Amino acid sequence: MTTIPVALGARSYDVRIEPGLLASAGEVLAPLSRGRPMPIVTDTNLAAHCETLVASLAAAGVAAPVLVLPAGESTKSWAQLEALTDWLLAQGVVRSDHVIALGGGVIGDLVGFATSILKRGCNFVQIPTTLLAQVDSSVGGKTAINSRAGKNLIGAFHQPSLVLIDPQVLDTLPQRELRAGYAEVAKYGLIDDAAFFAWCEENADALFAGDPAARATAIGHSVAAKARIVAADERETTGTRALLNLGHTFGHALEAETGFSDTLLHGEAVAAGMALAFAFSAQQGLCPAADAERVAAHLRSVGLPDGLAAAGVTADGKTLVGHMLHDKKMEGSTLPFLLARGIGQTYLDKTVDLETVAAFLDGVR
Ligand code: GLY
Repeated sequence: MTTIPVALGARSYDVRIEPGLLASAGEVLAPLSRGRPMPIVTDTNLAAHCETLVASLAAAGVAAPVLVLPAGESTKSWAQLEALTDWLLAQGVVRSDHVIALGGGVIGDLVGFATSILKRGCNFVQIPTTLLAQVDSSVGGKTAINSRAGKNLIGAFHQPSLVLIDPQVLDTLPQRELRAGYAEVAKYGLIDDAAFFAWCEENADALFAGDPAARATAIGHSVAAKARIVAADERETTGTRALLNLGHTFGHALEAETGFSDTLLHGEAVAAGMALAFAFSAQQGLCPAADAERVAAHLRSVGLPDGLAAAGVTADGKTLVGHMLHDKKMEGSTLPFLLARGIGQTYLDKTVDLETVAAFLDGVR
């Protein structure tokens, strides 16, 4: 078992990573239950994993009522938040109880937000079942639902009490989702760790082929990077945590253009967005062109989109920049961009001119 601490003072917690952990989760969770039930919230795609978890909890003497929500982004809604909080209240959940989020980013974000407001805040445990949730969204306490005005606009910072990661659950994850999650793995190399990006270039094939050691290294390294960044800047106030948004501003425009739908998954948009952020940095003379090409080549090599065309986006620069203006990261009339001086040298730039970005996008279109 690898244990990675997220050091946040009174809100500190561990991320535990071990192949097969789902089947032995009951032993790990029983001390948190203190004899109380641990409600599980999951989705319709995860019946087998949920059965494993319930059996493991039962073997450890922990009752676990289950709520199964529809799979998919539309579950991050006011309607499902209401259904979930009503269900948790009907279970008699009290503040010191722990609710288990078993699922990908949608379930983790929804359960995280629901527990941040239920009885003014109760505990939750993340058991992420997608690569994206394992390496990014389950760690760090960002929770949210979507609103008519955009994605993740209603939410709270609410840290889990524990994160349990079983890399074996990825064996049943569709390849497309695995690839989308991999974009966030490569992101940690691009942010500030050129050696890890080189590791990704060397080992991505093994990871996609299911090699347990490659998966363990990718997840462990990513979680350690995320834990370090979150510990340094929990609420994204100093600029450190903002580095995790590499590729997200360009990516947000692509997701908006494709209707935040399965046409372009979030991780796919982040991949194309990272390639565009590096290409833009190179065009501005900030980053060597060879580094931008290396980023695009690696993303292409694993089947991720490396720009507008590969993401299936034909809109012009003005339209895409128009989408960026609705990004929740807008600060007044300024939109901070994550740019790069090279691989592993990402930085936050608040001086980017949006007309220059539009012209760049028209150029690469
Ligand atoms: N996914 C970005 C963050 O957690 O800050």
